[in-house]
Amino acid sequence: MLRNDQLDQWDRDNFFHPSTHLADFARGNLPNRVVTGGQGCHIEDRDGTRLLDAFAGLYCVNVGYGRQEIAEAIAAQARELAYYHAYVGHGTEASITLAKMVLDRAPDHMSKVYFGLSGSDANETNIKLIWYYNNILGRPEKKKIISRWRGYHGSGLMTGSLTGLELFHNKFDLPLAQVVHTEAPYYFRRPRADMTEARFTAHCVAELEALIEREGAETIAAFIGEPVLGTGGIVPPPEGYWPAIQAVLDRHDILLVADEVVTGFGRLGTMFGSDHYGLKPDLITIAKGLTSAYAPLSGSIVSDKMWSVLERGTDENGPIGHGWTYSAHPIGAAAGVANLELIDALDLVGNAGRVGGYLNEALTDALADHPHVGDVRGEGMLAAVEFLRDRDSRSFFDASDKIGPQVAAALLDQGVIARAMPQGDILGFAPPFCLTTQEADEIVGKTLKAVTKVLG
Ligand SMILES: Cc1ncc(COP(=O)(O)O)c(C=O)c1O
Repeated sequence: MLRNDQLDQWDRDNFFHPSTHLADFARGNLPNRVVTGGQGCHIEDRDGTRLLDAFAGLYCVNVGYGRQEIAEAIAAQARELAYYHAYVGHGTEASITLAKMVLDRAPDHMSKVYFGLSGSDANETNIKLIWYYNNILGRPEKKKIISRWRGYHGSGLMTGSLTGLELFHNKFDLPLAQVVHTEAPYYFRRPRADMTEARFTAHCVAELEALIEREGAETIAAFIGEPVLGTGGIVPPPEGYWPAIQAVLDRHDILLVADEVVTGFGRLGTMFGSDHYGLKPDLITIAKGLTSAYAPLSGSIVSDKMWSVLERGTDENGPIGHGWTYSAHPIGAAAGVANLELIDALDLVGNAGRVGGYLNEALTDALADHPHVGDVRGEGMLAAVEFLRDRDSRSFFDASDKIGPQVAAALLDQGVIARAMPQGDILGFAPPFCLTTQEADEIVGKTLKAVTKVLG
């Protein structure tokens, strides 16, 4: 229990919170919450309020809160050796073991893993590796990166550019010139209501082909995508999307980056989204689920095909000029090892698939017929409910009506955290993998009440 009664004022006076309306927060118009504890799928704040966290923090506390096994592993590592760097062949038992555990779980054609600290920096690494790769192959003009509208890949300069959401570009002079965006695989928002899923997939593929034609395949290095769109709205791909996209990329010799920051390590009920949808990526981005956020750690998993070129590059140019002080930080690595062991021991990937499926069905049963619900969708332990003004004309509410945030607030009033996704009136769910069916029922029952309260 925290005893400092000045925390509220200190918070407003000193703390620059990410993704926050800064002026409203400073004025006190936005509530703050001091989080003090967590157990299983629940968090608790300093006022003693207990909340069912149906978004697992930022879809990252996959094993749930309060796992002593991970806390102990972190403490033991800190006592033994809190830090040593990983440059020039240095490592720790934890970082070397974790690299092997990641590769053992990754698709067979992956070769090595580079460790960073966040999903954003892992994607920065990926783009640098892609540029390096094409320079070593003697094609310095092949550098542009295709991303999708509504993709989320971080909020750095390059990664904020890859992200296809207006909020992350506006007033930041993004996207950078090397990034081009293509159609989001968002069937619910298809251009014409009478399009079948297969027709819509063909449309996305045609849009991609047209973009490649316009830009010239010789200028395009890579395509980046999340197996399931996350922050852009929690949108599983339409039927046949990934095999069709992969075929286009292969034909034009364009690398594929699977951004598995959300889907990696089990969220879809399979170890990787790449397995789930049969992708063959050249790079896989991992973060959140690697440690279940018990310590910051991310990674770029590099394929055999790219690795051999990177090795050649260092023969020709000397050591790779890339690394962070905290790459493969031992404390993060120790958390990662304990986290992946726990996921296996408790079959949490299996549970994510089973209970996630149950949650998705129950949300559909409860909400799909509501006149202001346009879509209930999800995959594994990811789900979303999208609201609209009128179903027949598929017309949406104005953003200023803040329907999504209002429903999220009404749900929070009942003690359940879901996320009002940043673009559109979309309520997102991504609970910890240890969710029980009773907790899923609670989420669904309270969501129905929240929707009824806001929209009738
Ligand atoms: C798919 C995806 N990629 C990258 C990121 C960026 O990760 P981070 O916030 O750790 O920088 C996120 C964060 O939500 C994400 O969802």
